[in-house]
Amino acid sequence: MTRRCFIIGHPVAHSRSPLIHGHWLSEHGLSGSYERVDVAPAEVPAFLGRLRAGEFAGGNVTVPDKEVVLPLLDEVSDTARAMGAANTLWMEGGRLHGDNTDAYGFLAHLDACASGWRDGSGTALILGAGGAARAVAYGLAGRGVGRIRLVNRSPERAAELAALFPGTVEARSWREIPALVGESDLIVNTTSLGMRGQPPLEIDLSALRPGTIVDDIVYVPLETPLLAEARRRGGIPVDGLGMLLHQAVPGFERWFGVRPKVTDTLRARIEADIPAA
Ligand code: ATR
Repeated sequence: MTRRCFIIGHPVAHSRSPLIHGHWLSEHGLSGSYERVDVAPAEVPAFLGRLRAGEFAGGNVTVPDKEVVLPLLDEVSDTARAMGAANTLWMEGGRLHGDNTDAYGFLAHLDACASGWRDGSGTALILGAGGAARAVAYGLAGRGVGRIRLVNRSPERAAELAALFPGTVEARSWREIPALVGESDLIVNTTSLGMRGQPPLEIDLSALRPGTIVDDIVYVPLETPLLAEARRRGGIPVDGLGMLLHQAVPGFERWFGVRPKVTDTLRARIEADIPAA
């Protein structure tokens, strides 16, 4: 039987997930499918009805549906509950399950690019306070990073997010960024700044210590102005594409029964679809 899988979101036309899963399906000689379905939040319950009825084996969920699906699931993983959002769904034993693999994807890519990051990452600085920041904070806290600072343009959102990780994540002011940069071993941009069509993230990196890892979860373009500047100053740049590739791994394994690999070939294939800056 051909297993059908999906990504839902609104809009969803830009999603590169079909390319990723399509690559793995052909690599493993599987006859499944993975399709984009544009589903507005109000249509999510009806779409999940189709999933429950057996039309699909499972799929991914992207903005703005990730939070909407959560109360409609039968089984929610601890991680998805902590995120307040699910990005990976599957049917198992007649029940609809949901997980969130964003933190996994973030960490797996960081491990692959900067394997020693944990030894040197006593202090992390997260820029932004949206869903992506929540996943990064959750991932880093779960790995035992002791000091995590979080700054956001709107300070009340930074305080709200920090309150979910008492004693681990500390909200600081956006104005403090220049000083915080010099104290950080790992800096992660989770804002949309630097993305194609958005203004660049203009922060003062003059205090950046050589060897500091600068991870930008934006991947269009692959090298954001932030990463270029970090590279010039001796930082270790980590781009956002790897997080996208790695977060897809657990879903594919659930739906198709094979744990796929994030290879250079896969990466090159997706890179070819990303416009230069
Ligand atoms: P996601 O769920 O993908 O993380 P989001 O919840 O929309 O997306 O969050 C986007 C992040 O980018 C927020 O931290 C946002 O800051 P605010 O909370 O102050 O809105 C940040 N962001 C977007 N545009 C920004 C800008 N021009 N300057 C600074 N931060 C910005």
